[in-house]
Amino acid sequence: MKITSAEFVKSAFEKSHWTADGRPEIAFLGRSNVGKSSLINSLLLRKGLARTSNTPGRTQSINFFLINEKFYFTDLPGYGYAKVSKTMRSDWGKMAEEYLSERNDLALCIQLIDSRHKPTALDIQLNEWLVFNNKPHLIVATKADKISNNELRNSLAEAGKLLADAKIIAYSAQIGRGREAVWAEINASINKS
Ligand code: GTP
Ligand code: MG
Repeated sequence: MKITSAEFVKSAFEKSHWTADGRPEIAFLGRSNVGKSSLINSLLLRKGLARTSNTPGRTQSINFFLINEKFYFTDLPGYGYAKVSKTMRSDWGKMAEEYLSERNDLALCIQLIDSRHKPTALDIQLNEWLVFNNKPHLIVATKADKISNNELRNSLAEAGKLLADAKIIAYSAQIGRGREAVWAEINASINKS
């Protein structure tokens, strides 16, 4: 897809702040520091559009980006960061569940996992939730540049077993690997919605 415009629209800390114009939406979900904001920037070829950081848990709100004035990307806060308080952790669950279950225009949920590690219990839980609730979803395995092709192959096979119902695309925001494949999925989901 040719990106003619990509703009940050807003950060929403509660439901009343969500966008409400009915454009299709692609949500990016995954644990803290897995590379959600980097994936968004890489797909859009815009370096600093979504804030990235080495400090896990940086993105605390749902951030909306309007692409080509046609659809939204939403960058969700990461889950599973051990150092946040218990209340913040359950807040994540409530926020995400509210968002995922009540957002009617979700064309695709992109769940990120780290290609270097086995999916965590929370990764598996989120995946099961998406499957159970019939949400169109795709798994993207990030940071693929950090391991060998052989390790990557094994890791994807392992993830495929733990996340039963999912298509997995390996990605590297650093070198743009997987970019075309992810765009193809996004395009197909928007055309369907
Ligand atoms: P939170 O907003 O805190 O939940 O994190 P996030 O999931 O948005 O992660 P972010 O994009 O901020 O990336 C976290 C760190 O991983 C940053 O230092 C990125 O530069 C790095 N990173 C992300 N994707 C890749 C990748 O594909 N390859 C490499 N080598 N590093 C990556
Ligand atoms: Mg982020």
